[in-house]
Amino acid sequence: MSLTDSIPNNVDLSSDRKLLRALEKWQPNFISWWRDMGPVGFQEDQIWLRTAVSVESSGWAHYDYVKMPDYRWGIFLTPNDGNAKIGFGDEKGRDSWDEVPGEMRASLRRIIVTQADTEPASVEQQRLLGRTAPSLYDLRNLFQVNVEEGRHLWAMVHLLHQYFGRDGREEAESLLERRSGDVDKPRILSTFNETTDEWLSFFMFTMFTDRDGKYQLSALSESGFDPLARCTQFMLTEEAFHLSVGEQGVGRVVRQAAKRTAQDSNGDARAHGAIDLQTIQKYINFWFSSAVELFGGEISTNAADYFAMGLKGRHHEQKKYDEHRGLNQIYTMPILDGGRLSSKEVPLRNAMNEVLRDEYVADCERACRRWNKVIAEEGVDFELKIPSRRFNRSMGMYAESAFDLNGDVITREEFEAKRDSWLPTAEDRAYVRSLMTPSYGPGEFASWIAPPRKGIKGKAIDFEYCKAGSPESPLWSEAAE
Ligand SMILES: [Fe+2]
Ligand SMILES: [Fe+2]
Repeated sequence: MSLTDSIPNNVDLSSDRKLLRALEKWQPNFISWWRDMGPVGFQEDQIWLRTAVSVESSGWAHYDYVKMPDYRWGIFLTPNDGNAKIGFGDEKGRDSWDEVPGEMRASLRRIIVTQADTEPASVEQQRLLGRTAPSLYDLRNLFQVNVEEGRHLWAMVHLLHQYFGRDGREEAESLLERRSGDVDKPRILSTFNETTDEWLSFFMFTMFTDRDGKYQLSALSESGFDPLARCTQFMLTEEAFHLSVGEQGVGRVVRQAAKRTAQDSNGDARAHGAIDLQTIQKYINFWFSSAVELFGGEISTNAADYFAMGLKGRHHEQKKYDEHRGLNQIYTMPILDGGRLSSKEVPLRNAMNEVLRDEYVADCERACRRWNKVIAEEGVDFELKIPSRRFNRSMGMYAESAFDLNGDVITREEFEAKRDSWLPTAEDRAYVRSLMTPSYGPGEFASWIAPPRKGIKGKAIDFEYCKAGSPESPLWSEAAE
């Protein structure tokens, strides 16, 4: 496999002329989408990026400077021995499908298109962020996330082209036609239509929203439709980096907040150009409550059907569970009953969204404990908290009432009275935005964020991760000095 192939791949593209032609036709449309809707202002610059070039865990990626439109978006499936079995649901134990079973076509297409749509959507949401990057290190990480979301789109489009015929080709075109935030042709999921116009939100997005993506991919990575399983397995390899950008990004903002709080005689982090811990907490409340919606309804017949069909399992289905049919088991969840919470027993299959959400919530709580360690290290008495999954919901059964941060029922009036202390206010957002001025000098960092512990792939923190490619580049003046 060579980086010089126009589409690096391990799916033997050269022997499938029909598929190759379909993808070669789609490629120029992808590139023009990338130029129109990808990162604004840095397309001619040299960015030190990793490119997936194989699936070997020892060395699947290649690191070098590349101009983003020249990035090699490849197609990689995790290899298997050809003996994969369906691991859960009604068909457990039978051979996995190498083709789409007729009766599952509509469900599978919906699953793939919904997942695929989030990939270009996030690139569109983040397209203006380069202008205000807090460092070259962060700028490079933003672009790394962006090009890999582009590759995830490629991976999903490959499935659509190879397994869904003409419908698949039409869906692949539509993925390049919808636009995040566009009233006429919006992206499918509402969270992906909001702009991410400052960096605190970018870190919150990669921490909380991308992490939903991890659990969705994980649930598909043991799918009975073998190409989908192998495709998502490899996507998860890249996704791990995106999540670390989010978790560590928030952690660095937290560190700076705590440092400045400790330093100031009044404990005022804002006086030193940092973001205060209270405001960070409000952003956590906002982004977490928006991301938990992405798991879908608490009680869901769709989720039950997907599990029964063997299409979508649980996180670590084989590793973590002994029983894989999910029949004759119950899941107990709090439900609203006459304005109060009471527990209800639900057939396990119908609660699969909630089972996945449990994994997600636990993961977010783990990250939060690490941030709290950072605060303690800086000698500040403050604890961040992940709110209850019932807080601030607009979808699912908890949207029917208002809840406080602990998940206790309150009135709408009580919620509104507390809103400004729980969620970012216009003033908080304006303050965060006011800090967003770029730092493009190697090793320089904006006032509101601590440097990372180490650089990327053995490079120093002050390595020149992004270099101006022309005098038009926002990076130019620094480079010319
Ligand atoms: Fe992705
Ligand atoms: Fe991602």
